Amino acid sequence: MNKMNCDLSEVLLDEYRIQTRVREIGLQIAHDHKDSVPVLIGIMKGGFVFLADLCRSITIPLEIDFLAISSYGAEASSSGVVKIRKDIDVDITGRDVIVVEDIVDSGLSLQYIREYLGKHAPASLKVCVLLDKPAAHKMEVSFEYVGFKIGNEFVVGYGLDYNSLYRNLPYIGILKEEIYK
Ligand code: IMP
Ligand code: MG
Repeated sequence: MNKMNCDLSEVLLDEYRIQTRVREIGLQIAHDHKDSVPVLIGIMKGGFVFLADLCRSITIPLEIDFLAISSYGAEASSSGVVKIRKDIDVDITGRDVIVVEDIVDSGLSLQYIREYLGKHAPASLKVCVLLDKPAAHKMEVSFEYVGFKIGNEFVVGYGLDYNSLYRNLPYIGILKEEIYK
C-alpha cells in the first residue's frame, strides 16, 4: 500500500484503467496522424506522466516539447491569471500540434494555451486531456481527445498534485477534503 493512499478518500481510476485508456488514445492519435510527424506539447508540470505513457503508445514518428504555465492564487483552484514559465523550443509553424494536458477544470488554462500556440500558426492544433471536469467549466472549452470525464472533486496522482505532492502516485484518487480545507 502506498503511504500517500491514506490521504485519499477513494481511488477513482486505478493503474489498469488508466493504462488501458492511454493506450487507446495513443492508437487513435497514431491513426489520425499517420501522414505527418506531429509535435506533442506536454503542459508542465501536471501533464508529464500522461505524456510519458501516451507518447510510448503512439506508433508513428513524433517530436516532444514542453510548455510550462502557472496560474496564480490558491493551490486547489485557479485564480484567473495564466503565466508562461517555460516556452516551447520547437518551431511549430506549419506543424501538426497536439497539446497534452492533465485536466480541464475551469477551462481557462486551455483557452490561454490554444490562443498562445495558435499565434505560432501551426498547420493544426489539437488538444488531448486525460481528465475533464464538465461541471467546473467556466467557459466554452473544446478538445479532440479525452481520457475520462470526472465529477467536481479534487483529484491527485498520475502527474496531478496538491501543494506539489502526490504527482508520483501511479493511480488517480480523490483527495480527502480535510487535507486541503
Ligand atoms: P483550469 O485552468 O481551471 O482548467 O485548471 C487547469 C489546471 O488546474 C490543471 O492543469 C491542473 O494543473 C489544475 N487542476 C484543476 N483541477 C485539479 C485537480 O482536481 N487536481 C489537481 N490539479 C487540478
Ligand atoms: Mg496543468
